[in-house]
This record gives sequence, structure tokens and C-alpha cells, in this order.
Amino acid sequence: MAARGKFITFEGLDGSGKSTQLEKLARSLRHQGHSVTVTREPGGTSTGEKIREVLLHSATSGLSPFSEMALMFASRAQHVHEVILPALAEGRIVLCDRFTDSTEAYQGGGRKLGTKPVLQLHEILCGNLQPDLTILLDNEVAFSVERARRRNLKCKAGRSEKERDENRFEQENRAFFGRVRHAYLAIAHREPHRVHIVNARGTPGETHAVIMELVRKKLKL
Ligand code: TYD
Repeated sequence: MAARGKFITFEGLDGSGKSTQLEKLARSLRHQGHSVTVTREPGGTSTGEKIREVLLHSATSGLSPFSEMALMFASRAQHVHEVILPALAEGRIVLCDRFTDSTEAYQGGGRKLGTKPVLQLHEILCGNLQPDLTILLDNEVAFSVERARRRNLKCKAGRSEKERDENRFEQENRAFFGRVRHAYLAIAHREPHRVHIVNARGTPGETHAVIMELVRKKLKL
């Protein structure tokens, strides 16, 4: 049987550059000969992508914070069992764009549901699966959210209506994202062995170099 693979998650505010960095890391690891699975949350399975549509579409109105959290976990439980655990069992490196820390930051912090229900649901629904390494791309709220908005405007022309409407969270105010960032930093403080804060203010190339060094050191890849 292959040795268990490695599970690496990327976290950060909208517009922190996570997706770009995840792609760059995937390319570098594949170049080194590793088998890499790239996935995301909410989503990552056909059921999860349908849930994602409900969660992110701006026409979804009046969703209660608890329903929002439950849908995040419905997507995640399916994702863990259908994609992440099988890939790890095959010895693959799994790179996931957001995981349970996002729920702790956005629903626990942003929506003020607190940490406890998130950790309890994670234990019940996801077997308390923990990433081997979490890269938290950190930046000022104003900078990240502004970047996410600019990206959405710029992308409008070339995207389908479904894609360009992925902005229900990006419509939140600055106080909401302040709470999200605060919750992220608290997780990093609580679990320093797993969660590494990477300053997201550098160029994409500079940030990638920092992440490569971190992955090399932490996971001996
Ligand atoms: P994502 O596609 O990663 O957005 P971006 O590329 O702009 O960072 O994530 C979609 C949104 O879903 C994002 O605003 C954060 C939110 N989200 C939660 O609120 N809770 C969660 O558990 C997850 C996974 C995402």
C-alpha cells in the first residue's frame, strides 16, 4: 500500500491570491514528479459544486448563518469521503483551496457563530481530518477585498453568468472581513505547527518562493 499522501490547504480572505499560489505550487510539485490533486471548497465534487452555486449566488437571499454553515459542511463531508481521503490513500499530494478553517473564519468569525460549533461539526462530519500544512495568505482587509472586486469586474466579459456572479460573500462589509481576518489569525495562533502565515503583499513570484521553502521544510518534499 502507498504511504499516506500529504494534505495541504490554502486559506485567506477573498482576493488574497490563494488560487494563483495554489496553481503555482501544483505546477512546481508536478514538475518534481509528485502526483498532485487540486481541489476546492465549497465544491470539489459534483454534489459540492451544486451546493457552491447555492452558497455563492447573489440571488440566494435570506440564508441563515446556520444554514450557510450546514451547507458548507454538506459540501465538505462529501468532498472528504469522495475525493480527499481516497487521494491521500493513494499517496497523492492534495492541494485544497479552502477547508474547515474557512468555516471557522467566515461563519464562526464573520457571521459570529463562534468556533465551537464549527469544530464539533468537523469532528462529526469529517472525522476531524486535519491538513498536514495550512498556508494562510494574510493581507490587510482593504487590499484583499478591493483586489477581489477588481478581479470580478475584470473577469466579467469573459465569464459565464454563473461564474461572474460568484460574489455573495464579496458583498459583505469591511467589519465582516475584519472579523474573518481576526478569526484566521486566532487559528494560526492556536495551531502554529499546522498553520503558517505567509505575507501576501509580495509579488506572486516572491510569495511562491516563500511557500516552496515552507513546503520543503515542513513536509520534506
Ligand atoms: P473562493 O472561491 O475561494 O473565493 P475567493 O477566490 O474569492 O477567495 O470561496 C468562495 C467564498 O466562500 C469565499 O468568499 C469564502 C466563502 N466560504 C465560507 O464562507 N465558508 C467556507 O467554509 C468556505 C469553504 C468558503
